[in-house]
Amino acid sequence: MNQVGKGLASGKIILMGEHAVVYGKPAIALPFKQAMIETNIIKTENATEIDCIYFQGKLEQAPLVLDGIKNLIVNTLKFLERPNFGLSITIHSNLPAQRGLGSSAAVSVSIVRALFDVFEVTLQDFDLKDLVAHAERIHHINPSGLDVNVIAAGQAVLFQRDHAIQALNVAMDAILVVADTGSMGKTREAVKRVNTLFKKNPERISKGLERLETLTLDTLNFLSNNDIQGLGKSMSEAQQILSQFDISNPQLDTLITTALEAGALGAKITGSGMGGCMIALCSDVETSTTVSKALRQAGAKDLWTLDLKDVK
Ligand code: MEV
Repeated sequence: MNQVGKGLASGKIILMGEHAVVYGKPAIALPFKQAMIETNIIKTENATEIDCIYFQGKLEQAPLVLDGIKNLIVNTLKFLERPNFGLSITIHSNLPAQRGLGSSAAVSVSIVRALFDVFEVTLQDFDLKDLVAHAERIHHINPSGLDVNVIAAGQAVLFQRDHAIQALNVAMDAILVVADTGSMGKTREAVKRVNTLFKKNPERISKGLERLETLTLDTLNFLSNNDIQGLGKSMSEAQQILSQFDISNPQLDTLITTALEAGALGAKITGSGMGGCMIALCSDVETSTTVSKALRQAGAKDLWTLDLKDVK
């Protein structure tokens, strides 16, 4: 057994198809390697301890907010047939939590990788996804599996429930600006809200979901043909539909309008909405700098850029 185990995981950005993916529609997501989570595990003689932003202390005393992680650690140790004793688990993250960037799946992926590493067991992709999916079901109601799949793959993917995941080559002459409103997204609530609307008005919501599906499939073509105008337009149309699903909010709306006024080709929520982050598509570095500045002035708490020429 290694004395030290290490597990890394990136965040994720949903380019197209959030929420629709919960209803079996396809979605496209990219790895977000500007923000990573690293879990380090050291073997000790003491009861298992955890050190993360929410809590430092014995795992068995961890608060409710860590229930998913606690369960994940216990289940993974069970899977590995190792006792739940004698590990010091430290989680470092520069991926902001609950911003639609996949932090809950990323933390789980990094923990499972570190546990397998410390016990020197080869981790199969299937086992990783299975262990993490279980933890995700504690965090979220009815998670689609998109987050765990893109984070485990570490590359751009087309994901659809009950279909084989498709790896995508993204090589587009464009820059994606990611801006954080600074307020927490609410995945459980947002998914519930769309579901309530769906039950109330199935025809209207189904129409929106179908249009989101078309926009996702169009995005595949835009990505292959380097059609940045087409992608920008589709992103903005997707945002209109997501707004009708009532999961945007004034902060997100302000950032989206600001990005468009500053020259972005399209802008939308990324992730569950009701807070969290938005993305804006820019044609070049100069425009992305102008858009970033405008977003900062409009209240963005954090900003990143992702060059779509080389998404790895
Ligand atoms: C996932 O980050 C965002 C949603 O599509 C929920 C899901 O896919 O489970 C809203």
